[in-house]
Amino acid sequence: MKITKICCIGAGYVGGPTMAVIAQKCPDIQVTVVDLNTDRIALWNHEDLNNLPVYEPGLDAVVAEARGRNLFFSTDVDKAIDEAQLIFISVNTPTKTYGSGKGMAADLKYIELCARQIARVAKTDKIVVEKSTLPVRTAEAIKSILDHTGNGVQFQILSNPEFLAEGTAVQDLLNPDRVLIGGDQSPEGQKAIDALAEVYMNWVAPANIIRSNVWSSELSKLTANAFLAQRVSSINAISELCEKTGANVSEVARAIGMDSRIGSKFLKASVGFGGSCFQKDILNLVYISKSFGLVEVADYWEQVIIMNDHQKRRFANRIVQTLYNTVADKKICFLGWAFKKDTNDTRESAAIYVAGHLVAEQANIGVFDPKVEQPQIIFDLEESGVSQNSRKRVTSYEDAYQASEGAHAIAVLTEWDEFRHYDWQRIYNNMQKPAFVFDGRNLLDGKKLTEIGFVYQAIGS
Ligand code: NAD
Ligand code: UDX
Repeated sequence: MKITKICCIGAGYVGGPTMAVIAQKCPDIQVTVVDLNTDRIALWNHEDLNNLPVYEPGLDAVVAEARGRNLFFSTDVDKAIDEAQLIFISVNTPTKTYGSGKGMAADLKYIELCARQIARVAKTDKIVVEKSTLPVRTAEAIKSILDHTGNGVQFQILSNPEFLAEGTAVQDLLNPDRVLIGGDQSPEGQKAIDALAEVYMNWVAPANIIRSNVWSSELSKLTANAFLAQRVSSINAISELCEKTGANVSEVARAIGMDSRIGSKFLKASVGFGGSCFQKDILNLVYISKSFGLVEVADYWEQVIIMNDHQKRRFANRIVQTLYNTVADKKICFLGWAFKKDTNDTRESAAIYVAGHLVAEQANIGVFDPKVEQPQIIFDLEESGVSQNSRKRVTSYEDAYQASEGAHAIAVLTEWDEFRHYDWQRIYNNMQKPAFVFDGRNLLDGKKLTEIGFVYQAIGS
């Protein structure tokens, strides 16, 4: 089957950029991205491309090229489902906050709603593609909902997990290490895989498009994220040992990374990993393992999260201890709030946890992030349970110079490139003395800062 009409349900960090790139690379395919969130869709349609709801380097140009040509954003979910031959489900699958599996299992209510809506609306055969990250065997549940429509419509369910990382989404989508498509082993299932593979073959080399059964595909996504996060927790564990022994974690990372069996990526010690995926997906893996009675497997992966929580707490504690065991009414300047550079996404950002800890010690926090503003910061703190009174202690500023004016210390929470190039002498002159810098990303030139007069502390040295 040649695909000419695609619908994607969910216009978020995955659905938006992924569909924009598909539309750019496949001008003959009409791609419609739908969402229940009218504000989000309005921003995707906004004429000022600086206002897109997802900030990703290069995304504005891709959207500019395809939008209105063969890329459309809409709130009319039924119409888009009805017209499409292939439907991506790219809705959020957060950690459950209620009921059984609370705090661990993935909340699949949005996925189920999509399946029911597709079942209700579809009048012709469809290929339904799981783009969201899902627990292994979710396709079974989706299939069971779709197979009970009673109107004779045939559905094929594929798993096609997305491996893009935020901040590099456009490049990752244009040059993916691999595209994974899992499908049913029947001839119909294989035909559906072929149809989706053909879409990707407009720009991805066939050798990089790999096929598997549905369950392997679903599990591969959770496994990839668990392995990546495990590397960060491993190097962060070593960073604590470095601080006790005089070893330097960057030197250790370089030395081990040159071993081709280990590799150099994902070995950057930090204040702790954040983002909407790592924690959620590992908790999900732990939950699934537990549900099969695999206690050792569950404990093994849970340790990655335990280590990450420890790293975030440790960073906050070190600030308090170094500032003479009290931060009450002192001003701490946060450089960065996003969970990594080049994104406006703050979900599970380490900054939220470090801020929560410091305001509990009655610190005042001045934040500057190039892409995150005050309402988002206050929302994040509220979501993570910080009281209204404590939230009042956090203020966002227009630039780093204002945020650090009169501060006792600076904490670097996100590795934005621009932080390196500031006039650090000017920042120093306007701070309380001694002036401290806690570099949670090992981003800044510690030697230069020390020469200026800062007391500089990095992670793992
Ligand atoms: P997101 O929250 O940014 O976007 C999801 C969107 O789906 C929201 O705009 C929401 O309004 C919409 N939605 C929910 N239910 C809907 C419904 N029934 N009908 C229409 N729209 C609906 O989430 P995201 O970051 O794009 O993640 C989506 C999925 O992709 C998740 O499963 C996630 O684990 C996975 N994933 C995310 C990333 C990432 O970097 N963010 C990477 C790979 C995979
Ligand atoms: C991750 C996966 O990389 C991606 O393949 C998947 O599709 C979604 O989840 P993302 O969360 O967007 O992507 O960003 P990633 O680059 O993986 O970083 C996650 C967190 O780990 C960030 O907070 C980052 O700062 C941190 N990190 C990453 C480190 O602390 N050290 C590192 O060496 C690498």
